[in-house]
Amino acid sequence: MDQEDIWVNRFDKLAEDDFVVVDDFLSIDEFRLIMDFFRRAEEDNRLKKAGIGASGEFQIKSSIRGDFIHWLDQNRDTDLKPVFDFIDELIQKLKRYCFLSLSGSEFHIAKYPEGSHYDRHLDQFNERSNRQITVLIYLNEHWKNGDGGELVIYKDGEEIVVEPIARRMLLFKSDTIEHEVLTTKVPRYSLTGWLLHQPQSVGYLLG
Ligand code: OGA
Ligand code: NI
Repeated sequence: MDQEDIWVNRFDKLAEDDFVVVDDFLSIDEFRLIMDFFRRAEEDNRLKKAGIGASGEFQIKSSIRGDFIHWLDQNRDTDLKPVFDFIDELIQKLKRYCFLSLSGSEFHIAKYPEGSHYDRHLDQFNERSNRQITVLIYLNEHWKNGDGGELVIYKDGEEIVVEPIARRMLLFKSDTIEHEVLTTKVPRYSLTGWLLHQPQSVGYLLG
């Protein structure tokens, strides 16, 4: 199978199941680059306690969500150019193969300290949310059974468990897939983002 067929298969799965797991999505070099960035962000105290809800009702509740995040900025975080490049490529592929209208993205790095979790939730908190596809890229090189921090997908009464192993990518539909991060027993690292929906028409705003 050539690269194109491989991606068509992945997107077929995404269309059918609302999620798809892609192992070895990151190259070793991309993985190292992100981890170097992560280490610097941690050293400089750039990771902040994550909250829940949209800006108006933003709250910090560790009982719901225990991770620390740092939002990425393409203009500022130029070290991560290869990452922004593969995100752009992913967006182009989704537009081409899945006919999605995507207009941008928002990404952060996330660290779940030992003992933290994220309760079951949907990534769209309200009708204003334009998150269409959730992208999770896991960065835990020596993850092993018993370390915890698995992602659980709830779908059609089933629970699908995804281990957060290094270089794995998980894509799912942000508006339909409920999910949860189980308590992690070791620090857990990821790169998380959302591909944003382009409103069909903003004509009414223009009168
Ligand atoms: C989130 C989330 C899951 C994960 O940030 O909304 O659900 O596996 N993350 O890190
Ligand atoms: Ni989520």
